[in-house]
Amino acid sequence: MSANTALAIVILAAGQGTRMKSRHAKVLHRLGGRPLVCHVLESCRGLAAKRTVVVVGHQADAVEAACKGYGAEFALQREQRGTGHAAMAARDAALAGFRGDVVILYGDVPLLTEPTLRRLLGRHRDTGSTVSLLTTVVDEPFGYGRIVRDGAGRLERIVEQRDASEAERAITEVNPGIYCVKSEFLFPTLDRLRPTNDQGELYLTDVVGLAVCEGLPVATEPVDPHEVAGINSRADLAALEETLRRVLVRRHMDAGVTFLDPGTAWIEADVTIGADTTVGPMVQIRGKTRIGSDCQIDGNAFLVDAEVADRVHLRSNVVLSECSVAEGSIIGPFSHLRPGADLGPDVHVGNFVEVKKSTIGANTKANHLAYIGDATIGRDTNIGAGTITCNYDGFAKHRTTIGDRVQIGSDSQLVAPVEIGDDAYVATGTTVRHDVEPGALAFNPKPDQRRPGWVEGFRQRRAKKKA
Ligand code: UD1
Ligand code: CA
Repeated sequence: MSANTALAIVILAAGQGTRMKSRHAKVLHRLGGRPLVCHVLESCRGLAAKRTVVVVGHQADAVEAACKGYGAEFALQREQRGTGHAAMAARDAALAGFRGDVVILYGDVPLLTEPTLRRLLGRHRDTGSTVSLLTTVVDEPFGYGRIVRDGAGRLERIVEQRDASEAERAITEVNPGIYCVKSEFLFPTLDRLRPTNDQGELYLTDVVGLAVCEGLPVATEPVDPHEVAGINSRADLAALEETLRRVLVRRHMDAGVTFLDPGTAWIEADVTIGADTTVGPMVQIRGKTRIGSDCQIDGNAFLVDAEVADRVHLRSNVVLSECSVAEGSIIGPFSHLRPGADLGPDVHVGNFVEVKKSTIGANTKANHLAYIGDATIGRDTNIGAGTITCNYDGFAKHRTTIGDRVQIGSDSQLVAPVEIGDDAYVATGTTVRHDVEPGALAFNPKPDQRRPGWVEGFRQRRAKKKA
């Protein structure tokens, strides 16, 4: 058997996952921000399989949608009559004409890695085995299929928890559910499976026993139990989240990212972070967030689907979602960049500033207490403390356009739609209702008056009233 043998991957993902007590299909539950089934697809991405078939059933449409982008085909298993029955669905819907090795994976075993799959394939091909599978030894085997071996240590069969004898239940070597089988054995053998077990299902695991009965070569390859832990309950999900979090943080550290407090960093699976970036305590980086090199994230930050370029400093307590920040910018403390905030290089956004659906040009500053929504702001402009873009009139949103080198005085309201030209100067406390031409001063005449000695009289009038 050569390494040129064609490879097909089958991922079983049709089950409901009764033990999750959920309205959602089990494989759609998220781990590290990514649906379980996508972890499995990700682990075999690099194997360059000729075909990848996901067996769907429960919430088939939603599962198919989650698998988009991996080049997988789908086989519908209308009724879930067991893992062997699911493999039949893949065969009948997609693989009938396929010849080669079939790797079968379960959609609820998400931490499997590509090197382990390569090891299994290597063992399978080097030994010329008909069936090869991973096995692992766990302290608490409850729920797993047990690997039953004979006196000489040769694999005999796999027995499920509920079908196992007392003695078999004591076995700690278990079946993680990851197999490689020659198609010419697998496809006809699936038709020989019988539901003679406690659940009345067709068990894929019986394919292993049938190969042994026929004296065909069966190989096993050991694997670290943490890597093949399956998810059957919410508690399993939480336990694996913990494991995955450590794995992901470690991976970023190995790639040159500093974590000041690795235990409190929450980095989801699809996040990228450049080298020499420092991540402080209590930082959550979620979704498809991308962070550049040499950035500093002080702490208490929440980022989701954000694009952060190189040399950006995120001070403490910032929230960024679906936004982008160009190189050298400084954000925070206490800033909120909402969807559509697009910040140029060397921008400063500071304390209690909220930005939504707005473009901000290079070197512009909004350092204190501002709301910038639906605005286009040029470069080298200063947005004073307390500036508000009044973008909503109760019916529709309107845009504010501000040019380059503009000075917006503190506590100004810009009533959209409104345009403020380059080099304009809006005086402190101005309500701007009409466009300001380039280079002009805009102000609202407000009398600035004094009444000398007024306080004393006021206090006396008050005191009299109280008495
Ligand atoms: C299975 C194995 C068990 C192994 C364990 C590892 C069998 C008979 N048992 O048990 O030996 O130790 O996984 O996690 O294979 N599925 C379908 N269609 C079905 C049934 C299941 O697509 O009709 C899918 C599920 O969506 C799931 C996977 O197959 O992703 C495993 O099914 P599950 O019911 O969780 O099997 P276990 O009881 O855990
Ligand atoms: Ca399972």
